[in-house]
Amino acid sequence: MSELLNGQRRSLMCGDVSTEHIGKELTLMGWVHRRRDLGGLIFLQLRDRSGIVQIVFDTDVCAKSLLEKASTIKLEYVISVSGKVRRRVGNNVNPNMKTGEVELVAEDLKILSEADTTPFSIGDDGANEALRLKYRYLDLRRPDLQQNLVVRSKIYQITRNYLTENGFIEVETPMLGKSTPEGARDYLVPSRIRKGSFYALPQSPQLYKQLLMIGGIDRYFQIAKCFRDEDLRANRQPEFTQIDLEMSFVDQEEEVMTLTEGLLVEMFKKIRGVDLPEHFLRLPWTECMDRFGSDKPDLRFGMEIQNLDDTVKDSAFAVFSNALKQGGTVRAIVLKQGADKLSRKELDKLAEFVKTYKAKGLAWYGLGKEGTKCSFAKAVSEEELHSIAKALSMEQGDIAFFVASDWQTAVVSLGALRCHLASKFELYCEGDFACLWVVDFPLFEYSEEEGRFVAMHHPFTSPKNEDLQYMKTDPARVRAKAYDVVINGDEMGGGSMRIYNRDVQKLMFETLGFSDEQIADRFGFFVDAFKYGTPPHGGLALGLDRLVMVLTGSTNIKDVIAFPKMQNASDMMSDAPSPVEDKQLKELSILCEEHDD
Ligand code: AMO
Repeated sequence: MSELLNGQRRSLMCGDVSTEHIGKELTLMGWVHRRRDLGGLIFLQLRDRSGIVQIVFDTDVCAKSLLEKASTIKLEYVISVSGKVRRRVGNNVNPNMKTGEVELVAEDLKILSEADTTPFSIGDDGANEALRLKYRYLDLRRPDLQQNLVVRSKIYQITRNYLTENGFIEVETPMLGKSTPEGARDYLVPSRIRKGSFYALPQSPQLYKQLLMIGGIDRYFQIAKCFRDEDLRANRQPEFTQIDLEMSFVDQEEEVMTLTEGLLVEMFKKIRGVDLPEHFLRLPWTECMDRFGSDKPDLRFGMEIQNLDDTVKDSAFAVFSNALKQGGTVRAIVLKQGADKLSRKELDKLAEFVKTYKAKGLAWYGLGKEGTKCSFAKAVSEEELHSIAKALSMEQGDIAFFVASDWQTAVVSLGALRCHLASKFELYCEGDFACLWVVDFPLFEYSEEEGRFVAMHHPFTSPKNEDLQYMKTDPARVRAKAYDVVINGDEMGGGSMRIYNRDVQKLMFETLGFSDEQIADRFGFFVDAFKYGTPPHGGLALGLDRLVMVLTGSTNIKDVIAFPKMQNASDMMSDAPSPVEDKQLKELSILCEEHDD
């Protein structure tokens, strides 16, 4: 039976009870986390967001009726207990608990809410994920999930303060809008009034924030919900949050980058007590790909990709020399002191691993304790092996891995292997943070599928002034005024300076092969707005969920979102998406038909 609070107030939260409260009368409220019944003595652990505290029902102190009432309490009941705080003595002290030196001796008890046996025990990390997501509100009682939401909330506050202090104003942009050019599939919402027409949920507020600049808002930010119907990964959700910002009267990447660095420095300091460098390393995209095989390199460890072309151009090993003859390259990474750590079977597995990145194979050469091991030893002379080891600055105990192929395949596959080995051999520590900016992205990338150049970011990204001359003749050569901020090998955010000059925008659309009708249809209202006085502007969006992941050391984005979606974009708890009534479909003029994909 539930009892009423009747205006009773709690004195403080469970986790905040300490030795300074000894002898004081307190009222605490929360969920029953554990219980131990020793006959005349009942111990409960009472839990709320702040932590856990021990409650004792002791017949030496409390009435027998209170003990009887306490004996009916089950796990996860919600109770209010009043009593006096006392110091725990002897074995009863729990040094692993924040409140481990004290306990509340109960004098009064209210059962505010009973609880059925929960489908899994709270705090059981081993419970099946689907079950935990179905009963998300129970899983949310776990302290680590609650902590993640606390960090998330701090990020909102720090962001709002920092950006407001820097002259930004927070503006909300519509959820029901027109499709934005971010490149993922849209979530569509049918219109009842304009039958057959659809709104798109925003993939980002990109168009609106640029229109706000044209509208004279000068500096805008928003903690914005974004929706993208794309394949999910450990760091991707269909519905996620961006710290989105845009500023006017800037035309240099540096200004947005410096502002963002300030925000990240403040976040890491306030949340983790970590001092990030005031300015992050800036690496041009080409250099990044060449040295790390990724446009989001993890710089917590070395193992850079090395170019062996000069050393192996006349190699007796045909895989190397042929790759070079065909205009390809031979690249290598060196795992320091790894030669004796990898069995033949494991080396074969690594070769399979790089094949998933299109490499045809993986060669290796290790300077192990029991002699060298080399996958191409038969094809080459001792002398050649020496020169390879020298070129790669290898020392006794090291092992080198080689991929011979076109540049893209070689660097990307070795880049992936680099991260795989670093994680396997724990070459970095939890709590290390390596931040950088990747700059000078190509403006375009060629889409084999579409047979044309497509915008690498979006069609409103400004080309570098000095590369404008190549827009017509050599689009692949044009670099963008775009930048991504990367932390520990994950893309935390990205942005660019925008095109504000009509001639440049026209050139951009031409290169992308858009017809006038396509432009008018897709971005007509947007392009029109640029006719009426557009300030130079640029901005960026940080992935807020990913920031929470890095700041809390979470490996899955679901752990930093209160109600996340499953891998198949469904919500286990509410069972969304779900069919709707025929009446609703009729109102929307929608007829559902099954189609094969
Ligand atoms: P972009 O598409 O790079 O840029 O997105 C910015 C950041 O948002 C995060 N992010 C995601 N996080 C979780 N789940 C997802 N599905 C997901 N997709 C993206 C990433 C990414 O770096 N309008 C531009 C920004 C701009 O140019 O100002 C944009 O949206 O951390």
